[in-house]
Amino acid sequence: SSGVRRGPDGALSVGGVDVRELAAAQGTPAYVLDEADLRERARSYRRAFETAFAEVGAGVDVYYAGKAFLSVAVARWLHAEGLRIDTATGGELAVALRAGVPGEHVGLHGNNKSDAEIARALDAGVGRIIVDSLVEVERVAAAARARGGAPAPVMLRVTTGVHAGGHEYISTAHEDQKFGLSLATAPGAQDEDSPAMTALLAVLAHPELELLGIHSHIGSQILDPSGFEVAARKVLELRAALAARTGFLVPEVDLGGGYGIAYLPGEVSLDPDRIAKDIAASVAATSAELGTPLPRFSIEPGRAIVGPAGLTLYTVGTVKPVRVAGGGAGPEAETFVRTYVSIDGGMSDNIRPALYGADYHAELANRLSDAAPVLARVVGKHCESGDIVVHEVLLPGDVRAGDLLAVPATGAYGRSMASNYNHVPRPPVVAVAEGETRVLVRRETEDDLLALDLG
Ligand code: LLP
Repeated sequence: SSGVRRGPDGALSVGGVDVRELAAAQGTPAYVLDEADLRERARSYRRAFETAFAEVGAGVDVYYAGKAFLSVAVARWLHAEGLRIDTATGGELAVALRAGVPGEHVGLHGNNKSDAEIARALDAGVGRIIVDSLVEVERVAAAARARGGAPAPVMLRVTTGVHAGGHEYISTAHEDQKFGLSLATAPGAQDEDSPAMTALLAVLAHPELELLGIHSHIGSQILDPSGFEVAARKVLELRAALAARTGFLVPEVDLGGGYGIAYLPGEVSLDPDRIAKDIAASVAATSAELGTPLPRFSIEPGRAIVGPAGLTLYTVGTVKPVRVAGGGAGPEAETFVRTYVSIDGGMSDNIRPALYGADYHAELANRLSDAAPVLARVVGKHCESGDIVVHEVLLPGDVRAGDLLAVPATGAYGRSMASNYNHVPRPPVVAVAEGETRVLVRRETEDDLLALDLG
């Protein structure tokens, strides 16, 4: 985060808090969240999109995708910064509501919402339910009918065929996957509507539903923003086609999340000002070409808001040099030494390297060292060899038990995807700001875990 400094004695501080003090007071591993940095990222996304879209005459709302990390305090902070909250389950919805975010500023996603989740969303008066299938159109309509009252505001999630982002599992907008409704018609079937058009017509046919918008999310950790423009064009074309057919002009379009961030030194996060300008110019041109007025827009960044604002603090334990085959065969075979640096967490607090092959960086955090660097791999304490946090990093050769390591850019999809593998309690989330620490989510204890075990 931007609040990381190295002090005169070589130790890191975040948000004005020395990591040695933080580790002593809170223990490790600990997720550390820089509140000022988080708020600034929220503001810059909001400012960038509001400014760029206002220039072409469109309004825009920024929904924070809570799946990246959600706690009551974070929901409050982001709402105070003018963001709304996007949730993917009843659990995330409960956090947003507990934080006091008004229902109309919350959206509910999910490809398999339960009746209870749909009812809860309607009871909370959520601003939008993003409908993901034709059967769900019927289910939300039935729930809204049963409740009576105002029609349920729905968006329809479509898949545009645009692939984008870092890894197959997190690239959602190609066709052979579970999300959304396709814009493509069956080959050769000229008179048939696409699944997306069919579902839009179904929503319009239900008086219990208000067709609020069309939604497209093309993937995650996207560093080439042109995919957003291609997907937006397809959504605007669908909107124009629906208007031509029914006279109904869908008022909103959501372009989803996926804005990529820097994980390693030398990488750069997408610049919100630049992408907002490019996307605004592109949707304005497309709308003019189609002869339809611009809709209101929304976006759903998660990682870009919280990812760089977090780091994980670990304590080093075992350090083990391992001789590794480097190449060649027979007497010419080359070998090199890789130093395995074990820390007190691992794949239970950061599954992303094991799940997606994600790369991270690590830094010695409690001191500076002038020892010659060694090629290190930072590994966890779990009982499998894929338990890697950082595949490859140069660390000072004197790194030793008791040292602190900081792994940057772990604010998104770290705590939110954490597990209790090997009965390891999940680390706390500690916010730092202006030299003060505040525990947002406390550390789990063995008793917490044993309390679930009824013997
Ligand atoms: N909106 C929708 C509908 C989404 O499905 C997602 C992410 C987002 C917004 C937020 O995307 P973001 O701006 O954070 O990239 N666990 C994976 C990421 C999964 C993302 C799934 N959907 C990871 O750790 O990389």
